[in-house]
Amino acid sequence: MFARYRKPEASPVSKAHAVPPLPDAATLPTAPKAAPEGMRPRKASAPARAEASDKELQRKRKLDQVKSELHKRLLENLNLAALETASEAELRTEISSIAAEALGEMNVVLNTEERATLTQDLYFEVMGLGPLEPLLKDDSINDILINGPHRIFIERAGKLQLSDVTFRDERHLLRIIDKIVSAVGRRVDESNPYVDARLADGSRFNAMVPPVAVDGSLVSIRKFKKEKLSVDDLVRFGAFSDEMAMYLEAAVATRLNVIVSGGTGSGKTTTLNALSSFIDNSERILTIEDTAELQLQQEHVGRMESRPANVEGKGAVTQRDCLKNALRMRPDRIIVGETRGEEVIDMLQAMNTGHDGSMTTIHANSARDAVSRLENMIAMAGIEMPLKAMRAQIGSAVNLIVQASRLQDGSRRMTSITEVTGMEGEIITLQEVFRYERTGIEPDGTILGHFTGTGLRSHYSDRFKRWGYDLPASIYEEVRS
Ligand SMILES: Nc1ncnc2c1ncn2[C@@H]1O[C@H](COP(=O)(O)OP(=O)(O)OP(=O)(O)O)[C@@H](O)[C@H]1O
Ligand SMILES: [Mg+2]
Repeated sequence: MFARYRKPEASPVSKAHAVPPLPDAATLPTAPKAAPEGMRPRKASAPARAEASDKELQRKRKLDQVKSELHKRLLENLNLAALETASEAELRTEISSIAAEALGEMNVVLNTEERATLTQDLYFEVMGLGPLEPLLKDDSINDILINGPHRIFIERAGKLQLSDVTFRDERHLLRIIDKIVSAVGRRVDESNPYVDARLADGSRFNAMVPPVAVDGSLVSIRKFKKEKLSVDDLVRFGAFSDEMAMYLEAAVATRLNVIVSGGTGSGKTTTLNALSSFIDNSERILTIEDTAELQLQQEHVGRMESRPANVEGKGAVTQRDCLKNALRMRPDRIIVGETRGEEVIDMLQAMNTGHDGSMTTIHANSARDAVSRLENMIAMAGIEMPLKAMRAQIGSAVNLIVQASRLQDGSRRMTSITEVTGMEGEIITLQEVFRYERTGIEPDGTILGHFTGTGLRSHYSDRFKRWGYDLPASIYEEVRS
């Protein structure tokens, strides 16, 4: 009945392809029995518990072995070309039928729950990304970080934790990595040991394989969120205050050039995306990113994604190439996902020459640090410019630096909003208008604090007023706890 999805010449039961029963398959340790309904399970004594968990471990290992064998058989027996048109339900039924036959041959008895998990896992192996599938499907997980086949960390609600998902071994992990990167026409192996890619669902993916990755492949996945956090969400989550949101709205709407500064995973892209919601719908916006993550709500948006060189080292399109081209495409605003290299000079020039209201993010720990990072990037790009001229360029291009931070308790907050007010001699002058004031720490590690103005009125107040954003002076007041 399911012959459609099987290779015509190879039936799973044919002796030619039959795999001998697993050595100890018949002695698969029995699954621990659940207590009958209505009865509380008796507490086991310590040695009994140790024995039980040992048994469970043995059983899990054995199941993994069975799964690996079944997966091999499925690949041998499934007609992969026909699978393209199969529905999920058909395929699941087919997999469970092939698995049942093979289990019978291998003399392995499983309970209903184990059978269901096995079919599910096999389905993910054949059609998806194996053990990663449930993690990718779980919307409460932001990041997946893999340190070798047996240690997969996940980030949930700001907290990083070790998951109980594992790969069988490094080969299994490498196979999944290969599946991901080959789907986007890339390759990763000893000679190209690392790769950046975007998964079909938009998630950002980076992998580095041995021998450069010493203890097994390293993978990081930033899950793509369909529902981006809005300004309201961020205020609700305590990322910044209502007053700061009011200020930011005025800053973006009146076309200040904004840099979002922050460490890795501190919420820079999320902040940039939320800030973009203050841009008027009539403006033409061009976005440039290495991995397209931004999701702007405006009507008139052109998105660009840079491209690395192919395996022959050809065809690279850098962020700088995109940016240069963007300037010919008559944008009102340009948004660069993250400025990290030579594109810095074109970004600053764009900000200085009529593309007011442009925005980008930069990897830095404070507003002052962001300024020095910009200087370093200009120097690294090989642009010979006297320091004073370089600073004058930065000072007149950048109006506002917003600092995003991930605090030790996992919470993400806008820890500072700082204005660039001009130059004094060779120094770029900065004025902080809002900050996060830490006041203490709870025994469970939760950080206590609040947002406050610094008491200084915005340098751009007159501009805001002229554009119709007459912010009350009270928003800049210091808040005491
Ligand atoms: N205020 C917040 N509250 C809760 N989750 C947040 C908040 N800000 C960001 N996040 C989540 O944290 C993760 C990291 O955010 P984001 O991608 O914006 O960081 P990033 O600084 O751009 O990281 P990277 O340096 O890797 O580019 C995302 O999954 C995002 O949804
Ligand atoms: Mg980012």
